[in-house]
Amino acid sequence: MLKILAIETSCDETAAAVVEDGRRICSSVVFSQLAEHQKYGGVVPEIASRRHVEEITGVCTAALAEAGMSWHDADAIAVTAAPGLIGALLVGVNFAKGLALALHKPLIPVHHLRGHLAANYLAHPNCRPPFLCLVVSGGHSHIVDVQSYTDFTIVARTRDDAAGEVFDKVARAMGLPYPGGAALDKLAAKGSAESAKRYPLPTPKMDGNPLDFSFSGLKTAAVNLLHNARQKGEEVEMADLAAAFRGKVTDLLAGHFFEAAKTLHSPALAAAGGVAANTRLRQLLEEGAQTRGLPLYIPPLALCGDNAAMIGAQAFYEYTAGHTADMTLNGAATMGINCKF
Ligand code: KG4
Ligand code: ZN
Repeated sequence: MLKILAIETSCDETAAAVVEDGRRICSSVVFSQLAEHQKYGGVVPEIASRRHVEEITGVCTAALAEAGMSWHDADAIAVTAAPGLIGALLVGVNFAKGLALALHKPLIPVHHLRGHLAANYLAHPNCRPPFLCLVVSGGHSHIVDVQSYTDFTIVARTRDDAAGEVFDKVARAMGLPYPGGAALDKLAAKGSAESAKRYPLPTPKMDGNPLDFSFSGLKTAAVNLLHNARQKGEEVEMADLAAAFRGKVTDLLAGHFFEAAKTLHSPALAAAGGVAANTRLRQLLEEGAQTRGLPLYIPPLALCGDNAAMIGAQAFYEYTAGHTADMTLNGAATMGINCKF
């Protein structure tokens, strides 16, 4: 039994968790700074870093207490080391280095997106590679071929904005508070698919990899539609526009994902990341997987957004593969999913 204390501070959640053998959550504590960033309409990196500094000790102490453990009972220390807001990441990385040094425990750096994928190992005992995963968050939109717990191929990516980012930007233009993805999703449920047709949105056209995504044109079209209506003093039926926008983004995500699964003959499917909480995306993925007779794994809502349990899950497999770090470990704002720390 390997009990890993995992730390996640890549954005605006200060999180710590204890995970056993990559599969069982002994504890998971998430301190969200959301309310503090909301008044600025987005995450303020400087504030995020400072709040991580203030909260990290308490959050780790709480995670250990919830697991009924002392600091010395942790077999290893894991931390998200990339990608993310650099100042925010460095708080977690340095705290984890201090712990590993003082407690004489191995230090395991984890890539944030590998962590998102691994949320499925916590929720679904049968989920094991190989599978094809749609990783959709505020910063990334990737289709990832997961060959093993530590081998990945990016099959497709966004050429511009991430799915979560466009959900948030359009939601903001609609007057919804940050981050508006979940609120837009809720509002869209009140719109009707029929009247959403009043708001036609463009289908992106690109050269190169046909499985890649592009969302910025869609975002601009929705924002322009709102601005133009405002200028003309016309009413926009927000629920219908939300339904039209959600429909278009999720059609693209699911469409490219199933196309990739067909091309690669993927034996199983998964989704991960904050946008995997989207009601319509979940529905489209479930229907598509059922039609094709393929198993589909999606984490429960609590494990879609940022948390440290997913980092602890992936850390177990990184550790098993010998991927530990020494005291020279640094954070990185950007890093490919296959890069080594
Ligand atoms: O994975 P995550 O918590 O953080 C990053 O690593 O970026 O993802 C956050 C993103 C935000 O953009 C948020 O608006 C979006 O996930 N999100 C949603 C929903 N819930 C969260 N987007 C669409 N529909 C939702 N229900
Ligand atoms: Zn994330």
